[in-house]
Amino acid sequence: DNKIIIAIDGHSSTGKSTVAKQLAKALGYIYVDTGAMYRAVSLYAMRKKIIDEFHFDQEALEKDLPEIDLRFKINPETGLAEILLNGENVEREIRTLSVSKYVSKIAAISSVRKKLVEQQQKMGVDKGIVMDGRDIGTVVFPNAELKLFMTATAKDRAERRFIELRERGEDVTYEDVLKNVVNRDHIDSTRKDSPLRKAEDAIKIDNSNLTLKEQFEQILQLAKTTV
Ligand code: C5P
Repeated sequence: DNKIIIAIDGHSSTGKSTVAKQLAKALGYIYVDTGAMYRAVSLYAMRKKIIDEFHFDQEALEKDLPEIDLRFKINPETGLAEILLNGENVEREIRTLSVSKYVSKIAAISSVRKKLVEQQQKMGVDKGIVMDGRDIGTVVFPNAELKLFMTATAKDRAERRFIELRERGEDVTYEDVLKNVVNRDHIDSTRKDSPLRKAEDAIKIDNSNLTLKEQFEQILQLAKTTV
């Protein structure tokens, strides 16, 4: 049949995963959140004291890479995939602001990217997949049939993320969240290996002034005309 690959990239907290999940559900596709994979590696490094506020032992991380096993498992209650780090469900823990503080440093390491990109490419061999991240349309699936690049103003993105973190009970300030969003975008866009950028053939979507429903309908239309 004519299943396709949909690659969704963009800046931090642009609602990529929200639209990717909606799209996967509507099309009966698999959804893969690649940010969760980089976040899980970061959580591993934090727990092992490989990274903290003052130091980052890149060599120790590279040495441990073969021992980091990442898998996705469907939660039967929600129908959504959750990430397992060496068998442990860390879906909640990887979403904290402290993981967000270190993840872009971890994601800049080429050996980390190589390992995760290989795993991501294997997940796409049968197509019928919606994958979101920073390098999906440029590196992971340069031949994806539909590529989207999502953006919105930093203020809009930080506001959304702030509300989300507060709803989950995290004691964060709006300023901290804004700083993190801007800082991650900077590191992600300026790193040497697979910097965040719009693929030439990606469709840019600025959702600052779109409701979730409007955005979803636009994108679903695009997907249907691509198939
Ligand atoms: O998508 P999310 O915001 O959860 O991603 C967290 C971080 O993981 C990003 O800021 C980026 O540093 C890294 N990432 C990446 N490549 C991807 C997905 C995420 O470098 N494909």
